[in-house]
Amino acid sequence: MTLQIRRFLEDNESSELFADLLRFVRATDFEVDPEHPPKTAGRLRSDLIDDPIFSRRLLVALDSNTVLGTSTMFLNHLKANRDKGEVIITVHPQARREGIGRALIQATIAEAKQDERSSLLLINPLSEATKGFWASAGCKLRQVEKESRCHLDAVDANLMASWIGGHGPTVGYQLIRSIGACPEEFLPHLIALRDASIDAPLDDIEWEPDQWSGAQIRQNEALNIRRGFEHRRILIVDPDGNPVGLTEVFIHEDDPAISSQGWTIVLSNHRGKKVGRWLKADMYHWLRADRPDVLVLDTENAESNGPMLDINNDMGFSPFLTWGLWQMEIAGLKTRAM
Ligand SMILES: CC(C)(COP(=O)(O)OP(=O)(O)OC[C@H]1O[C@@H](n2cnc3c(N)ncnc32)[C@H](O)[C@@H]1OP(=O)(O)O)[C@@H](O)C(=O)NCCC(=O)NCCS
Repeated sequence: MTLQIRRFLEDNESSELFADLLRFVRATDFEVDPEHPPKTAGRLRSDLIDDPIFSRRLLVALDSNTVLGTSTMFLNHLKANRDKGEVIITVHPQARREGIGRALIQATIAEAKQDERSSLLLINPLSEATKGFWASAGCKLRQVEKESRCHLDAVDANLMASWIGGHGPTVGYQLIRSIGACPEEFLPHLIALRDASIDAPLDDIEWEPDQWSGAQIRQNEALNIRRGFEHRRILIVDPDGNPVGLTEVFIHEDDPAISSQGWTIVLSNHRGKKVGRWLKADMYHWLRADRPDVLVLDTENAESNGPMLDINNDMGFSPFLTWGLWQMEIAGLKTRAM
């Protein structure tokens, strides 16, 4: 084997290499989630459209023109975390324990240094292999996240109906649904709700709260449209017009059957009134009414986020995948072992 590691240049690669990358992604995705239909070429192309806020650096490990491994590093351009990157390293199931993962770590560190990143958050499904792999690089497991799945056909529609309206003093609360861009008058609400997501548990991860400006939210909305996502949001505001809560779902045009639910958040001064359940139930009714092609929702939560997990469990989400998050301070790395 002659291993070469280099950047994958999204706009400049041959169709053969793109097809091989697709083959690689399908094989590794299947290992993690056999229920998910194989990724289409269109979906992979849309994943590769660069994000100005979390720009992607994709490295491929090649044996002649066959992709044996990848490292995807997302470079955070939000103010507080410009020294950080998020990394996913994957090696083809038939090419493991041959040192490819280790070579990808080295190449990723060189890229991160070039970009003056000093701390990397490493994300992989939690398994004996990934635990051993990151331990061999001197990294500690900092957080465990559950990815849960809900089959919408199996959800109890009566239970969902009983969640509408919340519980207690929610009279006059108003629900605002939007697709794509959030209406301009609610942009400040969205910023406040995004800022509040900093109280989601971080466990042992060293990370500054990310703060989004209105312009960055608009950039992100435009990117989602270019990537082929329908982005549905539900906001709740109180009778004085103040933000209360948010939930959002992303539906890809090539892959609507398994869609994902992103942030669900209720501001701390409005908790305990079952607004989180109301948001989830309203999203359920909205999808059932006009997106019957959405069969499943996936969502991620820190294992320590009890209240969110309780709502999800009651609705019918059940965990199907456990993610591990490790962190690497580049300066303190065991480069000798690498
Ligand atoms: C974790 C992973 C990247 C390791 O890749 P790899 O090329 O096999 O790793 P290497 O051969 O470079 O191994 C480096 C060291 O990691 C450790 N390691 C790797 N695999 C291990 C395993 N199965 N058990 C225990 N330790 C392991 C060892 O210390 C190894 O050194 P050694 O072989 O000299 O003992 C690979 O197993 C993988 O891709 N797993 C699936 C990950 C995934 O996340 N898929 C979906 C992405 S969304």
